[in-house]
Amino acid sequence: MVAMTVAEPLAGPAAAPPRSAAWRAGRRWLPCLPTLWPEMLVPRRRPEAPPFPFSAGRARPYYFARNAVFHGARLLGLAGAEVLVPAYHHGVEVEALEAAGCQPAFVRVNARMELDLEDLEARVGPRTRALYVIHYAGFPQPMREIREIARRAGLPVVEDCALALYSCDGPVPLGLLGDLGVFCLYKTIPVPNGGLLVVNGELAGEPPPVLPAPLASTASHAGGAMLANAAFRLGDAGQALRQGGRRLARAVRGAARVEHVSTGTMHFDPGAVDLGMSRLSAAIAANLDHREIVAARRRNYRLAQARLETLSPPVHPELPPGVCPLFYPFLCDDKDRLKRRLAARGVETVDFWRTGHPACPAERFPEVAMLRRRVLELPIHQDLSPEDVAYLCDAVEESLA
Ligand SMILES: Cc1ncc(COP(=O)(O)O)c(C=O)c1O
Repeated sequence: MVAMTVAEPLAGPAAAPPRSAAWRAGRRWLPCLPTLWPEMLVPRRRPEAPPFPFSAGRARPYYFARNAVFHGARLLGLAGAEVLVPAYHHGVEVEALEAAGCQPAFVRVNARMELDLEDLEARVGPRTRALYVIHYAGFPQPMREIREIARRAGLPVVEDCALALYSCDGPVPLGLLGDLGVFCLYKTIPVPNGGLLVVNGELAGEPPPVLPAPLASTASHAGGAMLANAAFRLGDAGQALRQGGRRLARAVRGAARVEHVSTGTMHFDPGAVDLGMSRLSAAIAANLDHREIVAARRRNYRLAQARLETLSPPVHPELPPGVCPLFYPFLCDDKDRLKRRLAARGVETVDFWRTGHPACPAERFPEVAMLRRRVLELPIHQDLSPEDVAYLCDAVEESLA
């Protein structure tokens, strides 16, 4: 296992990425996900060992994280059992647990996205067979305390790090203290697909072998991320290229009647549960400078927070050492309006987790309802320069004015 420690203050990526005159003139587009730069396809030797979870001794790569949740639950023998799950969740991870035969029971999460440990322990009942923990936006839940609760109750812990690739609690990587760690790669790095199931405990057995990732879907996602890179860097010309490329891809897909397996969708698809990660994703991941990504994300998060905390109280007042933030969770009163106004200024945002799984009684968790109503996901990813973050913050200020 290799944890990442990052020297600060942060320089981030050495030079500002090359941009066109149109871009510099102010017509910017800031995508919500990192884009695929052509040089990332060129194999290179990295002097440092890859960090956890890439260095994990026992890891199974999947097409997406939901497959890892499903097979992890099966590996733990949780069919027919109750699993305690945070009330603040995406919904697809709960669907994956249900598909594996689990019955979710929900635990309080407070307005700072912290799991309520008293509620967690109080809800452990005779039918409970596992604890499911989610690290939100890269910020750690207190794994030592959670492990202690699990030890007292004799239960395994599944650590969902779908939103927390590279993140550490101080020196300890997230996903290492749970019996299982689940990761989604494509939310943090520009790979066309990829999730990991990391097995940390002494668990016997293996999940079934994976099926190869569909080539057409992999090519289509990678092509989309490269076109997004052009649009990000080249202003109007890049946008035109992206629109044209997308139209062409749709036409080709339609004509060839190729079944497309999309990433980032809302629902669990049992037909895709055995799909593995593509070789292209593994190759891109091996070419990346992981430390630089963490450094850039931390720098951008801090720059955003310094400007935005005067407009709205931050969900996480501090950025603890080791955290690799996935996005800036901005609390606003009208997500739809702010999202629309930012889009008009070329800033892509994500309406983060507006609804949960229908089995979760929303009225029992008012803080979660508040987060679902108010959190808009603002990009702070590694492609963005300090100038881009300043543009983002200007756009938020103008949009709220
Ligand atoms: C907390 C959490 N777990 C699991 C997943 C599933 O990730 P994937 O889309 O890679 O299946 C998501 C998806 O957003 C998520 O937010």
